[in-house]
Amino acid sequence: MAENKVALVTGASRGIGRAIAERLAADGADLAICARRLENLEETVAAVEALGRRVLPYAVDVSDETAVDGMVADVKKQFGRIDVLVNNAGITKDGLLARMSVADWDQVMDVNLKGAFLFSRAAARLMMKQRCGSIVNIASVVALMGNPGQANYTASKAGLIALTKSSAKELGRRHIRVNAIAPGFIETDMTDSLADGLKDRMRDMIALGSFGKAEDVAAAVSFLAGDQSSYVSGQTLNVCGGMVM
Ligand code: NAI
Repeated sequence: MAENKVALVTGASRGIGRAIAERLAADGADLAICARRLENLEETVAAVEALGRRVLPYAVDVSDETAVDGMVADVKKQFGRIDVLVNNAGITKDGLLARMSVADWDQVMDVNLKGAFLFSRAAARLMMKQRCGSIVNIASVVALMGNPGQANYTASKAGLIALTKSSAKELGRRHIRVNAIAPGFIETDMTDSLADGLKDRMRDMIALGSFGKAEDVAAAVSFLAGDQSSYVSGQTLNVCGGMVM
């Protein structure tokens, strides 16, 4: 629960990020959210406001250092603090290793890993002064398993787990907790486009026998964001229906 806290969620225009923003608002948090285009955030803004919470939308590319620092500074000005940071924005540019372009490698690293670093750095500076905070990084179970066709994506998500552990060790004495969530197969735009045959094979690997929903990931974020997890840091919580154990 994040009652009366200020939460910043990246990539909140749709899918898991939007569900996280709505869940934290339902828990009682005010929100700062970003996506690349402001108009894509309109539905999330309306949903958060309908829950009676304040929300500030920003058009920010998470891989743009100046834009990230500017957003965090503005949130500090408007809300005075940031209690929760959720690094959710992520992309895929799949392809076999032997044929992967440097551009596809760099783009995935820039958004998934550098973006999380930039927001963690900017938020940590503020949280260190506050002497409290919770950072949640949205990784993926494929960081633990590997996945053919996703060398760039899996490497970025494995990097995110290492970033989680190192920042948890650095920031813990200031009462800042840093954790990761590794979702399995969650039904969103990112997974909609996969072939039916592949989806069937993935379902067979899941102990619970079904795909997850964005709300399942949001519930885990709610736990890690709030005080109920006050003695949990540096961990990766798999939200994958038992796909990975
Ligand atoms: P999605 O593609 O539906 O949404 C991604 C969000 O990130 C959108 O709001 C998009 O605007 C934003 N975004 C992308 N690039 C950005 C950039 N450069 N700057 C700012 N915002 C940007 O994806 P989905 O499925 O909701 O995934 C959310 C997170 O969960 C991602 O990090 C993804 O890797 C991770 N994940 C998703 C899984 C799934 O099965 N859907 C499984 C495991 C992890």
